[in-house]
Order: sequence, then structure tokens, then C-alpha cells
Amino acid sequence: MTEPSATFLLFGATGDLARRMIFPSLYNLLSDGLLPDDFMIVASGRSEMDDAAFRSQVDDALRQFLATDRYDEEVAARFGTMIAYQPVDAGNADQFAALATRIDGRLERGLSVYLSTPPSLFAPTAQGLADAGLITPHTRIAMEKPIGKDLASSKVVNDGIGHLFAEDQIFRVDHYLGKETVQNLLALRFGNVMFEPLWNTTAIDHVQITVGETVGLEGRVSYYDGVGALRDMVQNHILQILSIIAMEPPARMDPTAVRDEKVKVLRSLRPMTDETVKTHSVRGQYTPGAVSGQIVTGYADELGQPSDTETFVALKAYIDNWRWQGVPFYLRTGKRMPARQSEIVIQFKPVRHSIFGRDGHGTGLEPNTLVIRLQPEEYIRLAIMSKRPGLERQVKLDEVTLDVSLTAAFAGQRRRIAYERLILDLLAGDQTLFVRRDEVEAQWTWIDSIIDGWKEANVKPAAYSSGNWGPSSAIALIERDGASWHD
Ligand code: BG6
Repeated sequence: MTEPSATFLLFGATGDLARRMIFPSLYNLLSDGLLPDDFMIVASGRSEMDDAAFRSQVDDALRQFLATDRYDEEVAARFGTMIAYQPVDAGNADQFAALATRIDGRLERGLSVYLSTPPSLFAPTAQGLADAGLITPHTRIAMEKPIGKDLASSKVVNDGIGHLFAEDQIFRVDHYLGKETVQNLLALRFGNVMFEPLWNTTAIDHVQITVGETVGLEGRVSYYDGVGALRDMVQNHILQILSIIAMEPPARMDPTAVRDEKVKVLRSLRPMTDETVKTHSVRGQYTPGAVSGQIVTGYADELGQPSDTETFVALKAYIDNWRWQGVPFYLRTGKRMPARQSEIVIQFKPVRHSIFGRDGHGTGLEPNTLVIRLQPEEYIRLAIMSKRPGLERQVKLDEVTLDVSLTAAFAGQRRRIAYERLILDLLAGDQTLFVRRDEVEAQWTWIDSIIDGWKEANVKPAAYSSGNWGPSSAIALIERDGASWHD
């Protein structure tokens, strides 16, 4: 790792992500004294405006999106003085030259570029940077998803950046990796002795990963339609969680060791076919209904026309390696679910032999369950068996839970925005929590097999009323195997 970059150059600075996440995160880093002295933020967008006008927009965004106790007039004023605004249209060499003038004399101390623009602008922007002399060995570039719509288009995006930057200068953002709870999966698995010996097909029956959202389209029609839940959520966030849950222990916490292990898992995902998609996948689309007591409209109504895009997907995945042979990973995510709830469930197998009557029958004996709740609350809950107090000759068992509320255990610690961690790591040049090109490609390879299967088998989204956990076929997907979703 080198000295942190002294300059942060943001493309797409007038966009929603910048207002909601990136500027509030940078502000929080400044407020906690984590930015280098003499730090400069160069913001760029297509609109023409001067520094003062842009600074005032940022100030509005901070007031709107920072936690109420975080906004401080003095820090906000200092933050404003760090920001310069430069209008840039991809392909406009004069504007890139003007941008270079803004950064003049600072390149040696490191430049972190952040692309928060549509991916079609990634390559032209990188080219503009190259032509303006802004790419040096001290330049890094971060990019937001989506990186392509399939494997082929992701290669085009990666090639576009890759011919100007080396892989160790490229930081692909998956904001789930910036979440404290996702990083905590590494601590849970590899910082404790008791989980790892059981973390395999011998003791685990199946794994569930759920990322439920209550929101609908949120005005993102133009992006979301034609993309859908599989590409929007599974291709990146859910597969990243899966890879951390399933990977072998890395030798150390460094970018190469961690990402080498993750990519092995992603490459071991069993591809789907036009046959297996029929039983191993469910697509859904929300129709009108009620979420948290509010009446909401359906996807097609929000869109203004019928569509074949799925807003829900449930999958039964297999990882074909030694550790996970025969263990299904049930994955599901959707919009307009009954609750915003992301969690991982590790369902253990029954005890090998019950001493409490035949198979524990009639005694209440149940297999153990470990629930790792990622959001909105953060907890780890282990359901274990305990004797029900009483004098019955036949022992009766009840499930009790070992509960660790991370929110309570670390009360008083501010919950950070995922982007704070990621921006700090980008500035420092640490790629551990960023996605390497081979990971993206392994992710797309598996997703493409599902999309191809859907096309060949003509699998269309089934309707589900908003406020439900997807169509009934999603329940059948897991219940056929004698298990059920942990709702
Ligand atoms: C984004 C998706 O990547 O993640 C959105 O494009 C989704 O559709 C969002 O709503 C969910 O992120 P979070 O942090 O709110 O769980």
C-alpha cells in the first residue's frame, strides 16, 4: 500500500449516488480526521456550473442525507472548500484539459478516480483521462455496477478500462462488501474455532441467502426494466455473500488471498440448463398489493406497459466442490417484499443418532439453525436444543436461542455508510473489498447459464402480490426438498 491519494476525482457528481452516498461518506471521513491533509475533491458532471453553485448543492445533499447528529456547520464549511467543480462531457478534450489544469501538480501524490456514471461512459472517460495525461502509476479508478449485462458485454467494459489501467489500479465496487455485517462474515468464520469444523456437507443440510426489499422501482425504470432482479442483485451482491460464506479459509487477509478463494467458489457454481431452470429457479413480478400497510401499484403499472422483467428471483444453487457436495444454496431476492430483510441461514443436519427416543420423535428434537441477520438489525442467532424443565420420564426438548445482537454489543459506535469503508480503501489502494475481473466473469458465466436457460425453456415471471415473499412457486422450490424459507 502507498500513501493515500491526495485527490479524488468523481464523475457523475450531480447524480443520485453521489448525493446520497458518496458526498456524505467523504464528509464523514473528513469529520473523523481520516482524509489526508490538503485533500481535494474534483467533482465533474455534464451540467455547467461554478464551484460555488456546486458546493451549495453538496451542502443541501449533506443536510438531507447525513444522519441528523452528524451535520456540523464548521466541518461542512471546511468540506466545501475542498471541492472544485469542473463540467466534463465524455469525448470533450478541452474539458478534460481543463480538468487536468485543476489537478495540476497533484498527480504525484495520487489520484483516485470514481466513475459513478452509466457504464457506456466508462471507456470514453478513461480515454479522456489518458489523453489529458491524468493516468500515471499513481492513478486508481473505481467503477460502479453494472459491469455489463452478460459475460460478453462485461468483457467489453473491462477491456475498455483494462487497456489503460493495470488490474491493481482498478477497483470494482460492490457496495455490499463495504457493509460492516458482510465483512463480519469473515470474522465469524475465521476468527472463531467452533464454526469451521462444521462448515461443510457433513454437518450442513442447506444454506439460505435472502435479500428482501420493500421498495419498488423508485423511479429507476429506465435502468431496471430489461435488467431485473437476477442481474441487479444476484449477479453481484448475493454471489459475493455466497462466495464469502462458501470459500476456503484464505491464508491471510490480503486482496490476492481473499479474492483467490472467492473466485474458486464462483467458478464452482454448477451452471443451469434449460432443464434445471424449471425446477431450480423461479422468476416473479409484483402486482398491486400492500407493503407495511401501504397500498402500492404493480410493476407493469409503474412502468406503464407489460414487461417480462423479473422483480423477484429464487434459485437453488449447487457448488460443485469437495466441501459443498450435495448442499443446496437457496437464494432469493425481490422488490415489494413484506420486509426489508437480508439474512443468511445455515441449516444444520439432524444429530447423527438420537438418544431421545426413535429419531427424537415426539421429543421436540430439531436440527440446529444459525441465522446471520445482515440488515436492518444485525445479529447472530443460534437455535440449539435444550431440555424443557419438568419431571416427565420421556425427556422433552425445546429450541432456545443463543443471541448476539451486534447492534447492542457495539452500541455507541456509529453505523457507517458502506461507501466510507470503500472510499477509504480506494484512497489507500487496498483492493480486498473490491471485485476482481475474474470474479465478475465467473459471476456472469453462471448468471448467463440461467438467462440462457430461461430463454430456451421460455420461463416468464409469475405474478406475486406486493407484500408477499414472491410467487407460490418460490415456496415450492424449497419445500419440494423438505425444507422451508426462514421468514
Ligand atoms: C443496488 C441495486 O445495487 O442495491 C438496487 O441496484 C437495490 O436495486 C440496492 O435496491 C440495495 O442496496 P441496500 O444497501 O439498500 O441493501
